[in-house]
Amino acid sequence: MALILLVDDKRSMVRMLEEAFRAEGYDTLYAYNLRESISKLSPHIDAIVVDLKLPDGEGIELVKIAKEHYPFLPVIVITAYATIEKAVSAVKEGAYDFIQKPFDVEQLTHTVKRAIKERELRRENISLKTQFRSFFEEPLLVGQSEVWQNILRQIDLVAPLKTTVLIKGESGTGKELVARAIHTRGPRAKSSFITINCPAVPKDLLESELFGYEKGAFTGATESKPGRFELANKGTIFLDEIGDLDISLQSKLLRVLEYGEFERVGGVKSIKVDVRVIAATNKDIEEEIKKGKFREDLFFRINVFPIYIPPLRERKEDILPLAEHFVRLYAEELKKEVPSISDEMKAFLLSQDWKGNVRELKNTIERYMILCDKAIITPDMISVQNHNECYSDYTPLKDIVKASTGAAEKHKIIETLRLTKGNKLKASKLLKVSYKTLLTKIKNYGIDTE
Ligand SMILES: Nc1ncnc2c1ncn2[C@@H]1O[C@H](COP(=O)(O)OP(=O)(O)OP(=O)(O)O)[C@@H](O)[C@H]1O
Ligand SMILES: [Mg+2]
Repeated sequence: MALILLVDDKRSMVRMLEEAFRAEGYDTLYAYNLRESISKLSPHIDAIVVDLKLPDGEGIELVKIAKEHYPFLPVIVITAYATIEKAVSAVKEGAYDFIQKPFDVEQLTHTVKRAIKERELRRENISLKTQFRSFFEEPLLVGQSEVWQNILRQIDLVAPLKTTVLIKGESGTGKELVARAIHTRGPRAKSSFITINCPAVPKDLLESELFGYEKGAFTGATESKPGRFELANKGTIFLDEIGDLDISLQSKLLRVLEYGEFERVGGVKSIKVDVRVIAATNKDIEEEIKKGKFREDLFFRINVFPIYIPPLRERKEDILPLAEHFVRLYAEELKKEVPSISDEMKAFLLSQDWKGNVRELKNTIERYMILCDKAIITPDMISVQNHNECYSDYTPLKDIVKASTGAAEKHKIIETLRLTKGNKLKASKLLKVSYKTLLTKIKNYGIDTE
């Protein structure tokens, strides 16, 4: 059963929507304000309906935070006629659609139904695409430096085997590209290449993402679902940023690596899989072991065949071949003639220290190619101060802070109330806030004081 989060400060409205969605066979959760709605966000929610105007902020904030944490989660915005413009910008921020007041409930439930269906299709489509790509497309590995040639030899050496590979290197050096090449050049090429970026998935969700879950394993687990290890059966799983893997999951991973088996979350049956593991990290795992954050036995198990990709600034011979490769790539994509790279441009490219490595070089060339309308690329096409602006859609710190302070506050209040056995006055003293503030917070976060 799909779960819908309803956010509106008018209780009568929430009740009405609750009834309508329940009648359509949905489960519902509700929140009366922005803070409460943020604290209720979870991976189990399938859609959100939110009023634009909330007592403590705007619904658009929830759209942003939801997109940030759950990019596929559809958010439907309810708006009054006067705030249509805001609703439009909410859609630009990633809201699925908006509905204008006064609305027909059936129209709303229909929109939500469609949004959920589309999300399912998109998810399937994405996994199909990844498989398609790893099956048909041999990635181009460009580079002339001796280190790079040596990396190519290591790829060919290890590709036919099932050996676990650990790829190390700074961000943007090409770790994922190398992992894909190992997969496509080996006997598993026809099966899937499944990737998971460990730190990108919220900690409490990662276990069920990796190993799947059984129906009823947690609230919202209305059906059983296979994890990435099962999806990768006969193929390859790419564990990106494994240095960030939470220690609590490391022993379970170790068992999969050693015996090829695990249980789904909430399951009792052992599942056996035949999966090749490739891991990558930009952290010094040996340092993490010293800090007690990474299990040494797991490290030995994944470090069987390490491949180190040095930063681009340490293999400058690769810069120009890569730049030329990207110029051709974007010329094709942008349907332009392939321009040549001027000598000044070459000198400029060689003089940079490319902290973001190949990815930064690629982004830089893309920007030049968008602007390029001549047969030659020169460095003055982009002013120098613009070179550092590649991260324009980065999430502002304040959004992150807002989302996590809410969660932390709520957690602390619940803990304190437990300690004082529900005595709010005592709790407010311990927390050094006024009694009234505590009451407001309890109400806003929807804390059950019973
Ligand atoms: N040798 C290369 N030849 C062609 N393209 C490359 C090469 N190295 C990297 N790239 C391209 O640079 C980009 C960054 O590479 P990739 O995503 O593999 O890096 P990464 O090390 O996984 O980065 P991160 O640590 O940030 O995840 C990709 O678009 C990739 O295709
Ligand atoms: Mg990567």
